[in-house]
Amino acid sequence: MNSNVKRGWHFLQIPGPSNTPERIRQAMNRPTMDHRGPEFGLLTKSILERIKLIFQTNSHVIIYPSSGTGAWEAAMLNLFKPGDRVLAFETGHFATVWKKVAEKIGLEVEWVPGDWRRGVNSQQVFEKLRADAGGRIKGIMVVHNETSNGVTSDLKSIREAIDEAGHSALFLVDVVSSLGTTDFRQDEWGVDVAISASQKGFMMPPGLGFNSISPKAIQYANSKEGLHSYWQWQRIIDINQTNYFPYTPASGLFFGLDEALTMLLEEGLDNVFKRHKQYATACRKAADHWGLENQCLNEQEYSDSTTALRVPEGADADVLRKLILERFNMSLGTGLGQLKKKVFRIGHLGDFNELMLMATLSGIEMGLEMAGIPFNKGGVQAAMDALVTSQMSLKI
Ligand SMILES: Cc1ncc(COP(=O)(O)O)c(C=O)c1O
Repeated sequence: MNSNVKRGWHFLQIPGPSNTPERIRQAMNRPTMDHRGPEFGLLTKSILERIKLIFQTNSHVIIYPSSGTGAWEAAMLNLFKPGDRVLAFETGHFATVWKKVAEKIGLEVEWVPGDWRRGVNSQQVFEKLRADAGGRIKGIMVVHNETSNGVTSDLKSIREAIDEAGHSALFLVDVVSSLGTTDFRQDEWGVDVAISASQKGFMMPPGLGFNSISPKAIQYANSKEGLHSYWQWQRIIDINQTNYFPYTPASGLFFGLDEALTMLLEEGLDNVFKRHKQYATACRKAADHWGLENQCLNEQEYSDSTTALRVPEGADADVLRKLILERFNMSLGTGLGQLKKKVFRIGHLGDFNELMLMATLSGIEMGLEMAGIPFNKGGVQAAMDALVTSQMSLKI
């Protein structure tokens, strides 16, 4: 007999990997197929045609068997050579890790320091680019949604700053945790490479990385001799024209991706974004009521997919997370890098609904009390009130 046996389902409320819905799990429950056969060609065609809609682009989307980190590296290896200069911003842990990957492959990173509590300042983008009269900066690297702290940068205003400075650097954006949760318009905002992965807004397991590339970026990549082969965009694009890949693709995951695209498109991107905004707003209502401070300081930059909350001085966010996992079978995101033990992160993205949010917040409220962390009871009620208000405003 074991009183620790868990019943019901595990609440995976980390900000990715997000929950994989039954429809996607079932879609992947298939025997492996011939990745050079006719059926796979049709599957690839369906995916390549429709995935562009999620990036809001007419450009080509490359699908790698990789995580998001591999997709970062792929973009940089296609575009840059050792010694090239790129401009990057310390918005949080993921921007910092991306910078380290860039340095590892020999890039010179012009690093704009930050406090991990706000997004990229477009005025700073303008000033940095204006100061680069010789055009040494070849790329600008921005993390759209910093999953480590729940801060979303304003890409439109960054694009405007690049244009105002009259700079020709390529605009690279990490949309790993914003794509499929938050409005992202690759073509309209002049993003040259959008980098993403399967395990967040796509509601898929980890394993696929994406580079969505503008014609300018492809042309730039083709004008130089890259030190890579496996990641090479043009080789993949050429073979993708025939609906196949130059290597063995992660074919089992393709069944899931095809279903994920169907799910996102049948809901409609605008509805997907509205749904995420509604949960994020209700989640913050609970946090405000509890008296827990949001790691993101700027209201306009609050993330729709992730909320990172600071625990009071003297409390340990990882002790709270451990208690909630053991008692209530729910995983919350840990604090990363310099935020270790200081914040816990709530993922409210992907295959998620009102009652899942309420369960998540209830688990946190009970956990706060049991961990002896000072807070004001009633955050769950505040979130319910917010959800009722937003539901009542919907016309059904
Ligand atoms: C914004 C962001 N960029 C990059 C990564 C790295 O992706 P991966 O862990 O899939 O390599 C993550 C992972 O969570 C992320 O949230």
